[in-house]
Amino acid sequence: MNADAGGAAEAGLRLQVRAIRLLAERTHAFELADPDGALLPPFEAGAHVDLHLPGGLVRSYSLAGDPSQRSHWLLGVLREAEGRGGSRALHDRVRVGDVLAASAPRNAFALVPGAAHTVLLAGGIGITPLKAMAHALAARGASFELHHCVRSPRHAAFAAELAATVPAGRLHRHFDGGHPAQSLDIAALLARPAPGTHLYCCGPAGFMQACAEASRHWDTGRVHFEHFKPPAEAAPAVAAGAFEVLLARRGIRVPVGPDQTIVRAIELAGLRVPTSCLSGLCGTCKTDYLEGEVEHLDYILSDEEQARCLTPCVSRARSPLLVLDL
Ligand code: FES
Repeated sequence: MNADAGGAAEAGLRLQVRAIRLLAERTHAFELADPDGALLPPFEAGAHVDLHLPGGLVRSYSLAGDPSQRSHWLLGVLREAEGRGGSRALHDRVRVGDVLAASAPRNAFALVPGAAHTVLLAGGIGITPLKAMAHALAARGASFELHHCVRSPRHAAFAAELAATVPAGRLHRHFDGGHPAQSLDIAALLARPAPGTHLYCCGPAGFMQACAEASRHWDTGRVHFEHFKPPAEAAPAVAAGAFEVLLARRGIRVPVGPDQTIVRAIELAGLRVPTSCLSGLCGTCKTDYLEGEVEHLDYILSDEEQARCLTPCVSRARSPLLVLDL
């Protein structure tokens, strides 16, 4: 994940930039460690942290390192000249020795234990959470394969580390000259899902769309996506229609205007829901609901989760009242 995170993200850790190294074209690795050399909190493959950057920006980055390695965390970040400024701030203004505030790791893209086989499918810098997964799967001797679609060898981040981690014959790099969805016949790769196989995809929008179309016939519980940003055809973050939420534990009713998110309406009532991406991507704001009909606008919750919780940063009510377990 390399998503825009809202300013409300919590910053419980202070991390020192231990090293910065070139990984690939416009892409650097940032190694973050405790300033006093203490071990960092454990994390699971697929997790991300919110990093507080110069200029007051907060951005989410997947942890790309080996989860068993607690001396430092590793990020892989593509500098996006036309982005919203997070990757530019990190590349242009952060130097070795700087100390940055960060959240604890959170994971909305975790490996499902016990898979018979795992297919990891990365587009470009979407390799970061999948690299951590490759370390975890290799460490437990699990059956897996990793496909990395990139423009050219010059754009392939973590090439050496992946070659050293993924078992022989299971690492496939696909070069396409700039059209990630075309470098690999994703439909052919995913045409016949073997029993017990799980699929994990992360990459830019076009690549993710190709993965989603090619895996439509898979069981939804066996397909896992991590989007950088909401898909282009997404519904607007704020849909039409006013409604009310009842915060059941406090007995407070909060009106939600047609141009407000539930998170914002609750903030205006003097309370706070933890948030990070504010886009329905990270799961930080996930909240149980007790009554009402939800219009789910997230990209992260499974069908099973949507039956009991919602992401109030984007999702809304279809009923006049929504009762939240808050
Ligand atoms: S804050 Fe990320 S899903 Fe709501």
